[in-house]
Amino acid sequence: MRHLVFALAWALPAAIASAQDGKAVYDTHCAACHQPDGAGALGLAPPLAGTLGKRMAVAEGRKYLPGIVISGLAGKMESKGVIYEGLMPSWQQLSDGELAAVLNHVLNTFNAAELPAGFKPIEADELAAVRAKKPTAKELRGWRAASQ
Ligand code: HEC
Repeated sequence: MRHLVFALAWALPAAIASAQDGKAVYDTHCAACHQPDGAGALGLAPPLAGTLGKRMAVAEGRKYLPGIVISGLAGKMESKGVIYEGLMPSWQQLSDGELAAVLNHVLNTFNAAELPAGFKPIEADELAAVRAKKPTAKELRGWRAASQ
């Protein structure tokens, strides 16, 4: 029992810190285009709210989110019936931990209702794996299509 208490006391502040980091990264680097509430902006950037949770149910979706923040993407993208044609910058200057935190923030804050049961947060390791073999735009579009 004492071990469990120690384990919780250790894990909880870490979880809170990474949730806060994720919001800070989002507000600094993502909100200008995707908006503070993830609603997106017509003609600028697609929504990140209510559109990503279901993708976490399949492996392609789990690679797609790390992939798009590492590689960036430009061109036409349809979301909720609207075509966006803009530039999603690459965020490879941010660390694996920062990118995992911002993706978990986007998923847990803006997509909580559609996350699959038993969803496990994205780990820094998954960012590292994608960074080691950066996906092409074609691969990213394929993963997006496969995880709708
Ligand atoms: C300069 C504006 C801009 C900024 C800043 C930006 N994005 Fe994007 N983002 C876009 C655009 C534009 C697209 C669509 C790309 C396309 O048309 O191919 C996009 C697409 C995405 C998608 C895919 C959405 C979907 O429906 O498939 C995700 C996820 C995403 N961005 C996350 C982020 C995160 C996380 C950040 C901050 C680290 C960020 N974006 C910062 C413009 C931006």
